Amino acid sequence: MISRQEAIARRFGAAAASYDAHSAPQRHAASRLATELATLSGPGPARVLEIGCGTGHLSEHLRRALPLAQLVLTDIAPAMLAACAHRLAGADKVRWATMDASRPDQSGPFDLIAGNLVVQWLDDLPTALTALSRCLAPGGTLALSLLGESTFAQWQAAHRARGLTAGTLPLRSRAAYAAAFPPEGSLTLMQEIWHDEPRDGLEFLRSLRAIGADAPAPGHRPLAAGQLRTLLRALGPRPAIRYEFIYALWQAPARGSAE
Ligand SMILES: C[S@@+](CC[C@H](N)C(=O)[O-])C[C@H]1O[C@@H](n2cnc3c(N)ncnc32)[C@H](O)[C@@H]1O
Repeated sequence: MISRQEAIARRFGAAAASYDAHSAPQRHAASRLATELATLSGPGPARVLEIGCGTGHLSEHLRRALPLAQLVLTDIAPAMLAACAHRLAGADKVRWATMDASRPDQSGPFDLIAGNLVVQWLDDLPTALTALSRCLAPGGTLALSLLGESTFAQWQAAHRARGLTAGTLPLRSRAAYAAAFPPEGSLTLMQEIWHDEPRDGLEFLRSLRAIGADAPAPGHRPLAAGQLRTLLRALGPRPAIRYEFIYALWQAPARGSAE
């Protein structure tokens, strides 16, 4: 039997070709995360690690904003990395590597580690964030966009109203995300509510599949066809699908500040 992480990697890998056409929410969050990064003071980062780069929505912003930086772009799914390499073909000072963000193995230290909508897929977030923070140079920044617990609120409510539980990934509250970061750094969290407008519920579910984000929550039992039809009807036409984006900027202590 394959591990959950391997199953997630396979789904994303299989979706590499259809990802870009169905990832408006991810494209939006990448752009906003890049905007937040541009507000950071100090010298621009020289060594940058991206986790879960996918087809490169955030990578493209990083390359444009930091033309002199050395970028190491990583993802657990080799097909996603190949799509990203294709998108950034010809870019200087870029290296691609397969890497599970829970077990970072690229030699640092990095001035910036960034990830757009990836860490919700990690099993043990506090341990992963600690491991990533150890790859940062003193004063370095971990910049992540996260999905808050009210994401897909109407889909979850439609399930609850019928005594069911949605199979979408269980997500954390803002406070739970904050608690997952190592306590020794300084953390800023910003929240943004954003809506996607698929034609109907079926298009919503199909787009999750088209980007590979349809791995069911652990232990979820598939719905019967009739239950699914009822839930899709409940969403109605042109449902405004809620996304709660949380942008996290965590800064490692500067050298000597803990002494
Ligand atoms: C929703 S996509 C986001 C992709 C990209 N950051 C973007 O802005 O479009 C999630 C990505 O995380 C990757 N991923 C999932 N689990 C991962 C893990 N444990 N380590 C590294 N990457 C992972 C997937 O392969 C996929 O490319």
